[in-house]
Amino acid sequence: MTDRWTPSSWRTKPAKHIPADYPEPAALERVETILRGMPPLVFAGEARRLKSLLGDVAAGRAFLLQGGDCSESFKEFHADNIRDTFRLLLQMAVVLTFAGGKPVVKVGRIAGQFAKPRSEPVETVNGVTLPSYRGDNINAMDFTEADRTPDPERLLRAYNQSSATLNLLRAFAGGGYADLYNIHRWTLGFVEGSPQSARYRELADKISEALDFMAAVGVTPQTHSEMHRVEFFTSHEALLLGFEEAMTRVDSTTGDWYDTSAHLVWIGERTRQLDGAHVEFMRGIKNPVGLKVGPTLEPDELLRLIDALNPADEPGRLTLYGRFGSDKIEARLPALMAATKRAGRSVVWATDPMHGNTLKAANGYKTRPFDRILSEVKSFIEIARAEGVHPGGVHLEMTGQNVTECLGGARALNEGDLADRYHTHCDPRLNADQALELAFLVAEKLKPARQAEWQAAE
Ligand code: PEP
Ligand code: CO
Repeated sequence: MTDRWTPSSWRTKPAKHIPADYPEPAALERVETILRGMPPLVFAGEARRLKSLLGDVAAGRAFLLQGGDCSESFKEFHADNIRDTFRLLLQMAVVLTFAGGKPVVKVGRIAGQFAKPRSEPVETVNGVTLPSYRGDNINAMDFTEADRTPDPERLLRAYNQSSATLNLLRAFAGGGYADLYNIHRWTLGFVEGSPQSARYRELADKISEALDFMAAVGVTPQTHSEMHRVEFFTSHEALLLGFEEAMTRVDSTTGDWYDTSAHLVWIGERTRQLDGAHVEFMRGIKNPVGLKVGPTLEPDELLRLIDALNPADEPGRLTLYGRFGSDKIEARLPALMAATKRAGRSVVWATDPMHGNTLKAANGYKTRPFDRILSEVKSFIEIARAEGVHPGGVHLEMTGQNVTECLGGARALNEGDLADRYHTHCDPRLNADQALELAFLVAEKLKPARQAEWQAAE
C-alpha cells in the first residue's frame, strides 16, 4: 500500500466486477481517451465542500440523506423522473431537519449511478447462456447476444446523460425550485391522500408559519439568498475504474487528484478487498469516499481499510454504510462501531438498509419487505446510541415514481401488486410513499436524542 499512487495504478491489482469481455479492447481504449478530454462533471471545490459537510456529520452536527435509483437507465432518463427524485429528497430532508434540528446533507445516487456488480457473470435462460446485464453504461437488458455484449459507446452516452442530469439538478437546486417557500408545492401527486401526505402537510404548515414570522422580522429569501437554494451533491459506486480514471484530474488550486465524475464515490461490498484495484484507486483521489460494510467484515479488517482510505484521519473523508440485513445487524454492527470508536477514527457511520434485505417473492420478483428495511434502520440508530456513535445518515434506493417494487408500507403492497409497476433496472426501490414514511420514522427515532441534548445543555 506504500507504492506510488497514480490514477492508473489500480491496473496492477486484481480487479473484480470490471467487465473484461469487450469484443474489441482497442475500441474501449478509444472511448477512454475521448472521456479524458471531456469536461469534468463536478469541480474539486465542490467535493471539498461536501467533505467539510460530512465532517460535520462525523462530528454529530449534521445528518446525511443519500438516495436514488439502484441503477439509472437510458430508458427512464426523463426530466420528470429527475425532478421527482430531487423533490422527494427535499421533502425527506424537511422531515429530518425539523425533527433532528440538525442540517441535512443531501446527496443523490444520481448522474452517474449506472454500473452494477452482479452475483453471476452469466445468465442461463432455456438452455441459452449469455453475459449478465451489468448496467446501461456496459450492455443492455434484453436477453439477446447483441444486447448483452459490452459496448464501449455506452460509456459516452452515460457520460452525456449524467451531464444533462446534473445540469437540471443544478438548476433545481439553485434556480428557485428548492426555495423553502415552495414547501407545499413539493408534494408528489400520487402521495396525495396517503397518511404520509397528511403528516407532511402538517409539518409544511408549521414551517410556513415560521417563515411568515421570519419574514415579519425581515428575514426573507431576498435578504438571505441561502433560503432560496439548497446544496445538492451527486454520488455513485466507483465500479468501472477505467471510466473513473478517465474522469480523474489534477485540481489546479491544490495540485491534488479528484475524480470529477461525482462529488462522492463509494466502494461496493463486493470490491472492498484491501489489496484490490478499487481500494487502490480510491485511496489516491481526494474526494469524500464511501465504503459498504457488510456482514462478513471483521473489525480488524475494517480498521485496515480505514488506514488505507483515510490515513490522515480527515473528518468527512470516509463514510461507512452498514448493510447487514435486519436479521444480522445486531450480531455484526456493534463490534465494528466499537472498533472505530476505540481506535478514535473520524468516520461517518450511516446505514444502507436496502442491500441486506433483498429476497425473491414466490412469483419470481426480486423485492424487499418494507418492515425489514425499517427494522434495520431502527436497529442502526439504537446500536449507534448504545455504542456512543452518531447515527450519521441513511443511504437508500428510492424513486419519486409510483412504483411497486418493495413490499408493505402504508398502502400494504403485496406480492400480487409487484407486477403492476415494477420498473427497476436492478434492485427494488422504495416509492415516494414508502420513502417519506421511512423519513418520518427516522425523524421519530432522532427526536429523543435532540431532547436529551437540550436537557444536557440546561
Ligand atoms: C448498491 O449500492 O447498489 C450495491 C450493489 O450495494 P452493495 O455493494 O452494498 O451490495
Ligand atoms: Co442496489
